Amino acid sequence: MIKVCALSELDNRKPFAATVDDVDVVLVREGERVHALADLCSHAAVSLSEGEVSRKGIECWLHGSCFDLETGKPSSPPASEPVDVYAVDIRDGDVFVDVTVTTN
Ligand code: FES
Repeated sequence: MIKVCALSELDNRKPFAATVDDVDVVLVREGERVHALADLCSHAAVSLSEGEVSRKGIECWLHGSCFDLETGKPSSPPASEPVDVYAVDIRDGDVFVDVTVTTN
């Protein structure tokens, strides 16, 4: 687990881009929970962190596929493959991510 940031640095439902162990990750805070997904759309190589978060997940800005924050699965085409979702821990107000452990 690597410390990425303080929980207080994350705005609710606003994507936060980070690099963890050379892996590009997008963090999305939902209240006291934080999701960490691969910051790379599975359809083409663009950053999901440049998209917006809705109730359905994080939406790719290029073609609109929306990826579930828990499962990494796209709910709509053109993307058909999930993106990795990584293990997150919140300790003492800090956010830790382990990109060697996927949870989906
Ligand atoms: S590049 Fe993300 S849906 Fe096409």
